[in-house]
Order: sequence, then structure tokens, then C-alpha cells
Amino acid sequence: TYVVTDNCIKCKYTDCVEVCPVDCFYEGENMLVIHPDECIDCGVCEPECPADAIRPDTESGLEKWLEVNKQYAEAWPNITQKKDPLPDAEEFDGESGKYEKFFS
Ligand code: SF4
Ligand code: F3S
Repeated sequence: TYVVTDNCIKCKYTDCVEVCPVDCFYEGENMLVIHPDECIDCGVCEPECPADAIRPDTESGLEKWLEVNKQYAEAWPNITQKKDPLPDAEEFDGESGKYEKFFS
């Protein structure tokens, strides 16, 4: 599966949802997540993210993000259409420690 990671938070560009063939993105207030049981591993969303926030879970150190994606995909609503990024997306792009400060 692919997972959404830290840098989506406070940016939420949503380019990713438009290309997913199985519509497996779910939306929180500040970030999206991917449902790991629905993702078919096609990889097309990864290069679409302007914030470079989408990763294959085969990369090392992503165990936390796999759990976050799994847990919140069950709780948050599905999103399939692109919308405007969050207002300060450019400012927050690349900021560190976003999970600790702004996750929701
Ligand atoms: Fe959707 Fe493919 Fe991205 Fe998985 S890898 S979330 S199936 S676009
Ligand atoms: Fe987030 Fe990137 Fe999608 S910032 S909403 S994972 S395009």
C-alpha cells in the first residue's frame, strides 16, 4: 500500500484524490489518509502530490504512518474530488514536526 505522511498536514493539496482508480482517500481537517486495505498499489498518486507526502509503505520507518492511515481511514469521510488547498499550504509545505503540532 501507499501511505500519506507528515507533509500533507496543513497543505492538503488534494491532487492525489483525482487520480486514484479505487477512490481510497479519506479526509481529515488537516490531512488526507489512504485506506491500506483498499489501495491497489498502483503508485499513480505518488508523483501527483506537490508536497511529496505520499510514500510506498515498503520504505523504512513508515510503520507509524501505516497505522495512522489505517486508523483514520476507518473514521474519516471518503474524498474523491479535488478542492482548494488549505489557505497556508505553501507556507507550511516542508515545515517539520507537523504531526505533533497539527494532526487532525
Ligand atoms: Fe490510489 Fe493507487 Fe495511490 Fe493506492 S497507490 S492510493 S490505489 S492512486
Ligand atoms: Fe496531501 Fe499531497 Fe494529497 S498534500 S492531499 S497527499 S496531494
